[in-house]
Amino acid sequence: MHISLRPENSRAKLTTPLLAVGVFSDSRGPQFTAVDKLTGGRLSRLLDEESFKAKPGKTLLVHTDDLPFKRCLLVGLGKSEELVAQGLRDLAAHAVNEANKRKLKGAFVMLPASIEGSDAIRFGTEGAALAGYRYDKWLTQDVEPLTCDAVTLIHAKAKGLDPVVVRAARASEGVALARDLVNEPPATMYPGVLAKVAAQVAKEEGLECKILKKGDIVKAGMNLLLAVSAGSERPPRLIHLTYRPPGATAKTKQIALVGKGLTYDAGGYNIKPTGSLEDMKIDMAGGAAVIGAMKAVAAFAPDCIVHGIVPSSENLISGEAYKPGDVIKSYNGKTVEIMNTDAEGRLILADALAYVAKLKVDRIVDLATLTGACMVALGPHTAALFGNNDAFRDRVFDAAKRSGEDVWPMPLSKKLRGMLDSPIADMKNIGQRWGGAITAALFLHEFVGKTTWAHLDIAGPSFSEKAEPSVPRGGTGFAVRLLLELVANEV
Ligand code: BES
Ligand code: ZN
Ligand code: ZN
Repeated sequence: MHISLRPENSRAKLTTPLLAVGVFSDSRGPQFTAVDKLTGGRLSRLLDEESFKAKPGKTLLVHTDDLPFKRCLLVGLGKSEELVAQGLRDLAAHAVNEANKRKLKGAFVMLPASIEGSDAIRFGTEGAALAGYRYDKWLTQDVEPLTCDAVTLIHAKAKGLDPVVVRAARASEGVALARDLVNEPPATMYPGVLAKVAAQVAKEEGLECKILKKGDIVKAGMNLLLAVSAGSERPPRLIHLTYRPPGATAKTKQIALVGKGLTYDAGGYNIKPTGSLEDMKIDMAGGAAVIGAMKAVAAFAPDCIVHGIVPSSENLISGEAYKPGDVIKSYNGKTVEIMNTDAEGRLILADALAYVAKLKVDRIVDLATLTGACMVALGPHTAALFGNNDAFRDRVFDAAKRSGEDVWPMPLSKKLRGMLDSPIADMKNIGQRWGGAITAALFLHEFVGKTTWAHLDIAGPSFSEKAEPSVPRGGTGFAVRLLLELVANEV
């Protein structure tokens, strides 16, 4: 998708097959008024006749073939003061989707001037770029080719903001990669494949890449990762990518992004029931977000060294599989009594976090589709945020606000730590019924040592059940942009 900018007060004509303009439900807004004027008031008359309420998601296409813009797509934006990132992404995505539907080659999008220039352009770029996302490699019939490959974003303060477009387009590529990885079926996306993709990303983006194979993992003593993968024919991997800013020294701060890369979670001997198995290819969404973010990290030019770490395994059943009742010694020496083989994410992350803690990084963020309990607590669209340092947790929260992703803080309640006590090992891998997302976070906390750490449980938002204008059903690429916003501002 080629995205260009144009200032709103440009004297050039709006010559395009499709011009999209947002309409607010309270006052319709100055962008609508300006375009309406060009049509001699035709648009406002039509909105009145059609009783168009400008609710978010509602659109109306008007043919204007006597004007330089041949069609005008009116997009409801709801109340002006309630407009957020998603509304802007949807505005641009509606334009692209309508253009594709009508086999048009391009579209113009008027962005509301009420949103500051770089935010409006960033979200507009993301919406336009990601509306063209499809996962159709397995469809052999009825695939409609996408025709719209050029979008012009119009905003009063667009001048000089081309770098914003470049960065947002790179971030969108990272999101698209994360979606592809999540959407890929487990037969073709297993640890070895995930590691190959990561190595390819490293090669293309000039990142350092170290892949630990099964022999290396055995030698290192990452026995929790080995235990989870013991029931699989396909061996585990530990993926380690590194971005080093130009001129980095021994004093340069280091941040590690750690993502759960469980390419298929059947639950192990605590096997999941039908209904819970079908979408469990998504269990590597945290790892996918890390690899997606690493793909775009150079464009965000962070001042810190960024490590991207993904422990990757399947969680299956066989005669060799680990069992409830096993006691396993982790990479940092702590022992874990396995009480449920379906609580495997925290096990592979525990070894990865202990590995990262040994690297002596300054900060860690981990991301994992970790618990169903998190979705019970916050619903399907919001990630839970935990941490052992309030200031850092707040920075992750602020990064999510800037990236326009839905994250909410949860407490690392020390009182629940007792639920993990085991009579025969240092801890059990599950707690009791209540507070499942919290006990999972408390388990991870045991493996970060004193390192400043935040944990995102992304079980809900990493997958979308229902198609939205810039997100088809499937992997969402959640948290790629959040991670980029975070590392770009860490020093
Ligand atoms: N991968 C699942 C969590 C999950 C559930 C992700 C739904 C996405 C959607 C995780 O490994 C798991 O099975 N967790 C268990 C933990 C329990 C055994 C303590 C769960 O949430 O039921
Ligand atoms: Zn599980
Ligand atoms: Zn899992």
